[in-house]
Amino acid sequence: MIQLKKINVKFNTGTALEKWALRNLSLDIFEGEFVTVIGGNGAGKSTLLATLCGDVTPLSGKVMIDNVDVTTRSSWERAKWVARVFQDPMAGTCAQLSIEENLALAGKRVSGRGFSAAILKQDRERFREALSKLGLNLDKRLKDPMGALSGGQRQAVSLIMSTLQPMKILALDEHTAALDPKTAHYVMDLTRQIVEDNNLTALMVTHSMQQALSYGTRTVMLNDGRIAYDVSGQQRDKLTTQDLVDLFHSQQFSGDDFLLT
Ligand SMILES: Nc1ncnc2c1ncn2[C@@H]1O[C@H](COP(=O)(O)OP(=O)(O)O)[C@@H](O)[C@H]1O
Ligand SMILES: [Mg+2]
Repeated sequence: MIQLKKINVKFNTGTALEKWALRNLSLDIFEGEFVTVIGGNGAGKSTLLATLCGDVTPLSGKVMIDNVDVTTRSSWERAKWVARVFQDPMAGTCAQLSIEENLALAGKRVSGRGFSAAILKQDRERFREALSKLGLNLDKRLKDPMGALSGGQRQAVSLIMSTLQPMKILALDEHTAALDPKTAHYVMDLTRQIVEDNNLTALMVTHSMQQALSYGTRTVMLNDGRIAYDVSGQQRDKLTTQDLVDLFHSQQFSGDDFLLT
């Protein structure tokens, strides 16, 4: 279970650019939930994920994962719980290294051992098997540089990479935003499959209202660093994308104190 307790995050403290990115934000996410996160530009979506992953340390508040207080733990230490896929297909993988080298690095994510160019035969078999599930023929291209892959292929490999070490939470930050619609659809279906197969808890930031409702079990809307709307179950089943768009627009013109829940 993930518990974010009264999280406050501020950037550029004491400068003209001072900005509260998260304001007293509390959110409990139960095991197996798949939460889609929406909100306007600068609403705090990426900061929320970064706070969970350990790339941002809150000014105050607590981050708990499975009842462990991880607030001051590094992203490296949190890797045994959380894996992350970014919007930019170039982020999170190394273009110069081969596919198998990238996978080998991902496999070492948690242990912190140094990278060795020697990839064991059993590792290679494991990578091949994992990649063959994608149906993209990448299992036959283990030695190709990661940079030779298309954006969609890289995101697919990034998802596979995230599962090479045991972990429980998948944090996805607009990971299909840079892809064409067909490829985005493929990567989304793959995401759903990986979440189901590995019994993961997932947080997925998306700018697509349609994605926000058609994937996952719960939807959270952020506005100005706060949770403006949080919906799941039957109430969510009844929601249309137009409802979300209306909610979204009603917030854009509201003041700082606008709260729907
Ligand atoms: N590293 C940073 N340094 C300074 N300001 C930041 C940083 N990251 C985010 N912000 C600011 O915090 C607010 C929330 O940003 P972000 O979480 O990236 O929003 P979103 O992902 O919803 O678009 C924005 O005003 C953004 O400019
Ligand atoms: Mg963002």
